[in-house]
Amino acid sequence: MRVGCPKEIKNHEYRVGLTPGAVREYVAHGHEVIIQSGAGTGIGADDGAYQAAGARVVKTAEEVFQQSDMIVKVKEPQPSEWAQLREGQLLYTYLHLAPDPEQTKGLLASGVTAIAYETVTDDRGGLPLLAPMSEVAGRLAIQAGATALQKANGGRGLLLGGVPGVLPGKVTIIGGGVVGINSAMMAVGLGADVVIIDRSIPRLRQLDELFRGRIHTRFSTIEALEEEVFSADVVVGAVLIPGAAAPKLVTREMLSGMKKGAVVVDVAIDQGGCFETSHPTTHSEPTYEIDGIIHYCVANMPGAVPVTSAHALNNATLHYGLQLADRGVKALIDNPHLRNGLNVHKGRITNRPVAEALGLDMVEAKTILAA
Ligand SMILES: NC(=O)c1ccc[n+]([C@@H]2O[C@H](COP(=O)([O-])OP(=O)(O)OC[C@H]3O[C@@H](n4cnc5c(N)ncnc54)[C@H](O)[C@@H]3O)[C@@H](O)[C@H]2O)c1
Repeated sequence: MRVGCPKEIKNHEYRVGLTPGAVREYVAHGHEVIIQSGAGTGIGADDGAYQAAGARVVKTAEEVFQQSDMIVKVKEPQPSEWAQLREGQLLYTYLHLAPDPEQTKGLLASGVTAIAYETVTDDRGGLPLLAPMSEVAGRLAIQAGATALQKANGGRGLLLGGVPGVLPGKVTIIGGGVVGINSAMMAVGLGADVVIIDRSIPRLRQLDELFRGRIHTRFSTIEALEEEVFSADVVVGAVLIPGAAAPKLVTREMLSGMKKGAVVVDVAIDQGGCFETSHPTTHSEPTYEIDGIIHYCVANMPGAVPVTSAHALNNATLHYGLQLADRGVKALIDNPHLRNGLNVHKGRITNRPVAEALGLDMVEAKTILAA
């Protein structure tokens, strides 16, 4: 198969769909890989690195779209990109169609077979192509919180790890999923006191076993939230209710009970945020202050570290990507987890939540693939 990767064109997107390492794997499977010149600049991979990995480098995105049977990207296609997709071509990337009727219309009109990273599943009921970005965001949350805590940045002026003879800071993490665990690892590594709040008792048990007494866990109630938020120096918001907006667990009123100069890092901002006072911010202006509390609410945190993020993403996407390249649409028929990733095929929506969110008709992936 001819596998193509254009340069990302969404504002401030520096990741790339295929790293040179991933290109080598596709080439080893007997595929031809076509890369747009400059596609890897954001992660420090020049055209020479791609050529050395066995790719053919072309000048324009148009050449990539025209010459490829499968397009591998990071972000959802932009209008100029979806206009170039065609029936019989595979598109493998993040799509996030539910809130995006325009893109959905574009993909339906193109006839493309679109597999969305975010709906591919695994045997454990997880979303394996979303998890690496949650790992990055979770780890970054503590770096962001520690930086915002510094006096010159508006924070309390406290070192999370303390020093001998001076107590460390306290980090409260709301939501002990992928983001929460990764935040906890970093906070523990810095020497902070750490509490994780979750509403799932099995999850709290796992966390308790994993951290072996190095963190404390609490069941999520209003009382627990108040106590742990009021005494925290950094609060990380990391809750997720799949398919729903994040619950507003920390109200504006609660900010007045917090320490002045404390920091909230609302990682769940991409689902609306779990602090009532959160609104999305960007890497160029990541924080703002309300009632003396510093808010960090960057909606695409992994974008700050494209080198790490692109490699983590490629590690996760490669396995399924190779199946698609090796077997084409047959891979979707045989692998139910990959089939769950199918969102659009030959002008029809094949994902129920997407169809429901947009009020459009759908057809079961299995039915349309068998036809
Ligand atoms: N801002 C970014 O750049 C960025 C990057 C990656 C992920 N995210 C977001 O981070 C959030 C968390 O992602 P994740 O992968 O860790 O999800 P996850 O499903 O692994 O974990 C979510 C956890 O929240 C818990 N939870 C749900 N309701 C709760 C409540 N009322 N109180 C306490 N805990 C509760 C769940 O039990 C679960 O353990 C999501 O909204 C995700 O989209 C943001």
